[in-house]
Amino acid sequence: MRVSFDRAAEFYDRTRGPPKHAMKQLVRTFATELQSYGNIIDIGVGTGRFAKPLQNHALEIIGIDIAKKMLEKAMAKGVKNLIRGDACFLPFKDKTFDACICIHLLHLLSDWKLALHEICRVTKDTMLSIIYTTQNPVQRAYSQILGDYGYKRNRLGKGEWELKDLIKPLKSIFAATFDNDADSLLIHLSERAYSGQWTIPADINQKAVVELKRRFSGKTFPAELRVLVWQIDDLKEYLQHS
Ligand SMILES: C[S@@+](CC[C@H](N)C(=O)[O-])C[C@H]1O[C@@H](n2cnc3c(N)ncnc32)[C@H](O)[C@@H]1O
Repeated sequence: MRVSFDRAAEFYDRTRGPPKHAMKQLVRTFATELQSYGNIIDIGVGTGRFAKPLQNHALEIIGIDIAKKMLEKAMAKGVKNLIRGDACFLPFKDKTFDACICIHLLHLLSDWKLALHEICRVTKDTMLSIIYTTQNPVQRAYSQILGDYGYKRNRLGKGEWELKDLIKPLKSIFAATFDNDADSLLIHLSERAYSGQWTIPADINQKAVVELKRRFSGKTFPAELRVLVWQIDDLKEYLQHS
């Protein structure tokens, strides 16, 4: 089962956080963690949100994604070394890469374990991702309201926040804090910008957003971002026993 992001290519960068200053700190944290690695793969590279600034830090990044239109956006930004392919069938030999970046991909895949298996096959040392450690009350209320209407956000696999509980990361590194602005999020939710919303009927979504606006308009919420680092050996061990 796949979720195609071709439909998101036009609005992806506009609707994804964090704000610029937090993104800079996040990229700096990645660059520091990855500086000793020769070659790195960004799996589910998307529009190159991370690959582009990391390539600017002189890191050797190869990006792979299944969605042609996302890759076209990345290419238009000048992201180098892009390949179209499926995370579940990576077109690389064993241990081709020293490290892997995998951000907001595994929750999209029903066969997320197969993708994780592939990551472990092609990567020697570590897998990096990001996590918001603070719960966003707007997102929480949105899920709750959808539930009241009998709907659920579509998630086929495991997100980073679930993965960290299944497999303990070697490191969880503080990267940035910022104020999450409810009004921007409400606009993006009303546009159904997030993949988890794509199976929610438009009228139900609008009803939920009206209720959220009533509760949260004009508010901000603190957010914290961390970079998670897993050892490939720990991921392999989990796969062997699950
Ligand atoms: C939520 S976006 C994240 C993009 C990027 N990592 C970022 O953080 O901006 C998920 C990306 O994974 C890609 N994707 C989904 N399923 C995939 C698969 N089976 N193989 C490779 N990429 C996939 C989508 O096309 C999309 O570009």
